[in-house]
Amino acid sequence: MHDANDTNTPPAPAPSLFTWEFASDPYPAYAWLREHAPVHRTALPSGVEAWLVTRYADARQALADQRLSKNPVHHSESAHGKGKVGIPGERSANLMTHLLNIDPPDHTRLRRLVSKAFTPRRVAEFAPRVQELTDRLIDGFADRGEADLIHEFAFPLPIYAICDMLGVPPEDQDDFRDWAGMMIRHGGGPRGGVARSVKKMRTYLAELIHRKREDLGEDLISGLIRASDHGEHLTENEAAAMAFILLFAGFETTVNLIGNGTYALLRHPEQRERLQRALAEGDETLLATGVEELLRYDGPVELATWRFATQDLTIGGQRIAEGDPVLVVLAAADRDPERFAAPDTLDLSRRDNQHLGYGHGIHYCLGAPLARLEGQAALATLLRRLPDLRLNAEPEELRWRGGLIMRGLRTLPVAFTSES
Ligand code: HEM
Repeated sequence: MHDANDTNTPPAPAPSLFTWEFASDPYPAYAWLREHAPVHRTALPSGVEAWLVTRYADARQALADQRLSKNPVHHSESAHGKGKVGIPGERSANLMTHLLNIDPPDHTRLRRLVSKAFTPRRVAEFAPRVQELTDRLIDGFADRGEADLIHEFAFPLPIYAICDMLGVPPEDQDDFRDWAGMMIRHGGGPRGGVARSVKKMRTYLAELIHRKREDLGEDLISGLIRASDHGEHLTENEAAAMAFILLFAGFETTVNLIGNGTYALLRHPEQRERLQRALAEGDETLLATGVEELLRYDGPVELATWRFATQDLTIGGQRIAEGDPVLVVLAAADRDPERFAAPDTLDLSRRDNQHLGYGHGIHYCLGAPLARLEGQAALATLLRRLPDLRLNAEPEELRWRGGLIMRGLRTLPVAFTSES
């Protein structure tokens, strides 16, 4: 059983966090934290001090706690810690007013607006397009016998999918690919190039919104403009911030769902064979539960985005002072043995699987239906078309990105029998 009092007397020094070893396998460190210091104050690589919440019950509660604000003005260090929390470049590009940085009532108003444009029906209608994109990308390497699945598959798929949904014309989508590439390559590193890419994206989106106002289409940006014209107000700046957060939140996450998910399948041949058999029999149930399990087992979002205490409060028996940053460690919560049976086992048919991979509460992932659609199409098509797909490197040779929020591979070299 957990005992909140252990927090004060850890039996050994806390494991080092944010090292390369940690990046390649953070789960032993998370198990230690859950057990001995479930609400743990630590200095992040940026120098900002934050509380890490690692147990499932505490994490779920914290995600839904309205006393934890998403707005960085509540950070006790916001005056001098400027620029150290949040997405690099978003402040200077004037993109702060997006869903992940705001609280009700603004959050409620903006979320309602975007939900009108981003309906499950619209996402479902997008399925043939996602399938087409998936096949086109696999066509690019299927006759070669080997590929890097991150660069050639997991990375471009979500960027093209979101650009299509937003209504970015095809001839401009490669610019987004380049800007997004800069963001993903340098996510945990130098901020200069990232900030420049964010600015370019912002300028482009502002112009695109302007053009669409004159000529509305069926795309998501037009939908946002239309929704705002029907009685609810959406400023041009909010529209740009919304488009930006859809790109930002929906891009690297999905890259890592496909990357981490494929990697986990390649490392668990019996699970992968089960899935291949089910797919061959036309049964997609295991695909649906399997993608959820892959999210729980090694999900793309290691930590939920920033929260700040608006008053003194207690989480898991630990007092948190007003102004303190709190980071909910989804990856740790989703391996909590108090919540999941055999949490370190990958079981694609797991049923009782209310994982926190998409968050919880009012900020629950807006794009979850699109992410599921892309994740399922990507994995099923890979396994169907390249049935003997295998890892083309030793697991120890693979490098994980050391970013704070996301967990994902830099490369995923694979080999397979070429399609004739
Ligand atoms: C929010 C995960 C894909 C758009 C979130 C949150 C998580 C998450 C954990 C909550 C963050 C927090 O509470 O701090 C994921 C994962 C994805 C994924 C694991 C892929 C596997 C997408 C896609 C889109 C998207 C494809 C859109 C195209 C958003 C937005 C929010 C969000 C707009 C903010 C919602 C709000 O604050 O109300 N996502 N996401 N996500 N996600 Fe996703």
